[in-house]
Amino acid sequence: MELERHEYDVVVVGAGGAGLRAAIEAHESGARVAVVCKSLLGKAHTVMAEGGIAAAMANLWPEDNWQVHFRDTMRGGKMLNHWRMAQLHAQEAPDRVRELEDWGALFDRTPDGLISQRDFGGHRYARLAHVGDRTGLELIRTLQQRTVALGIDVYMECTVTRVLRDDAGITGAFGYWRESGRFVAWHAPSVVLATGGIGKSYKVTSNSWEYTGDGHSLAMQAGATLVNMEFVQFHPTGMVWPPSVRGILVTESVRGDGGILKNSAGNRFMFDYIPDFFRKETAETEAEADRWYEDKKNNRRPPELLPRDEVARAINSEVKAGRGTPHGGVFLDIASRRSPEYIRKRLPSMYHQFKELAEVDITTEAMEVGPTCHYVMGGVEVDPDTEAARVPGLFAAGEVAGGMHGSNRLGGNSLSDLLVFGRRAGAAAAAHATTRRGNVAPLSDDDLADAARAALSPFEREGGENPYTVQHDLQQTMHDLVGIIRTAAEMEQALERIEALKVRVANLSVEGHRQYNPGWHLALDLPNMLIVSECIARAALERQESRGGHTRDDFPATDAEWARINLICSPTAEGGVTVTRQPLPQMPGELAEIFEETS
Ligand code: FUM
Repeated sequence: MELERHEYDVVVVGAGGAGLRAAIEAHESGARVAVVCKSLLGKAHTVMAEGGIAAAMANLWPEDNWQVHFRDTMRGGKMLNHWRMAQLHAQEAPDRVRELEDWGALFDRTPDGLISQRDFGGHRYARLAHVGDRTGLELIRTLQQRTVALGIDVYMECTVTRVLRDDAGITGAFGYWRESGRFVAWHAPSVVLATGGIGKSYKVTSNSWEYTGDGHSLAMQAGATLVNMEFVQFHPTGMVWPPSVRGILVTESVRGDGGILKNSAGNRFMFDYIPDFFRKETAETEAEADRWYEDKKNNRRPPELLPRDEVARAINSEVKAGRGTPHGGVFLDIASRRSPEYIRKRLPSMYHQFKELAEVDITTEAMEVGPTCHYVMGGVEVDPDTEAARVPGLFAAGEVAGGMHGSNRLGGNSLSDLLVFGRRAGAAAAAHATTRRGNVAPLSDDDLADAARAALSPFEREGGENPYTVQHDLQQTMHDLVGIIRTAAEMEQALERIEALKVRVANLSVEGHRQYNPGWHLALDLPNMLIVSECIARAALERQESRGGHTRDDFPATDAEWARINLICSPTAEGGVTVTRQPLPQMPGELAEIFEETS
């Protein structure tokens, strides 16, 4: 077998915000680092976090501090977050933003020259440091420039298909160059998974083609576990019309900057959907909500800024009740609330993107929006301080890691998450590599041959299944049966279909050769998509309550008993998934008091 081989201390899989931040930290800790990414460097779902980075910097609100951010994050996640991750995140996010600025990121400013912060759902105070509506892009630009300036090796358009290990832990990774189809292996004691999410398992998503759950699946194959997989976030405002922009994100900043949601009757329906949990903080009349924009200090927040799970469910109910737009969404209107100059200044990408791609002018007309699969809260179960998975030498950071966001992520918390935990993962991976230096067994020839054989198998079958048809059927299944609203009967049906899809995936065939062959690439992504879909469906079937991003029509209430339980997905010997219950770690008294003080 022709195989390109490399030696490193740390291999980072994925070059979004978490991967790049991990790589920088590992490099600065003295490790030899490689970043391997499926796409072009700089093209990552990080850029879809448009509205800002949540960090309690108190630039607009002196009252803000890490404790309030911690409380908001836990409440947004309906208390299922790992408390230690939420604590570290809230404490360290401001330093990560300032560090980014030191590295060249250009944030919008307040009149006093401080980093400007904007409002987002579920955050008590305006807390999102931002760059117009291009914050994720600026973050990636900055980290990318630093990665290149530090001379870190980057393998672009290179897909990892196996994480390799022996009994002592990680030994490296195996993958292929997308352009040539040639194989490549990295020998390294530490691998950091930073591959992002799973959105491409769903039909309507803000995710692009790369997000096929690769890191989730690689971790499972290596023997690690996943947590909270039942919780998938449907961002409330994806475009539903025209078809050219279906699923594309309309940033929450549109609502944070004054946009409102209306149904087909012209009613501002979110007033009808305020949950008791948030009633004290949410305006209950239009006048009260409007006053908030003028005098935020004394008034209650508009209902459009409830956490995402609440808003997505409300939109879903309006459409189901027959009060949706002609194309099955609701209206998001900022045009009648803000001047065209204000909109163009605060939301430049939204303005240009929809004008160019959809001929929708958001300064003069409302958008038709509806939920779009945006983020998975579930991911690799990690130690909160080091991001180490259960397999020695394996780490995970960013969206691919679970625990931080509980059952629902607050907008803006992903950018801070990937900086805080990317940095921690990079440091821990470098430290692990130091302890293993000189002691990592060579890559096993049998394992390499097996990985190569598996990768080439779709070429060896004739007349098998077409990968695009299988992908379409999987997306339809997840959309129809494991979407926003779930029932046991539908999820059982989904699991049956997933079993049938597994048989079809084992019989995929592709034509042509190894040079840039997208059908082959998809054939190699599909097993990953299937395993994460199975995890989502199995965990969702097991959790018999509604919480955050998981709504059961047959168990509509939130259940106090389930607030103590995490669901863990582990691989079975037959290549399936088993789900077990695990008690939530106990929150220490001094943190629990934060909820008593502010309740
Ligand atoms: O709506 C947005 O700008 C998305 C932000 C996020 O997912 O954090």
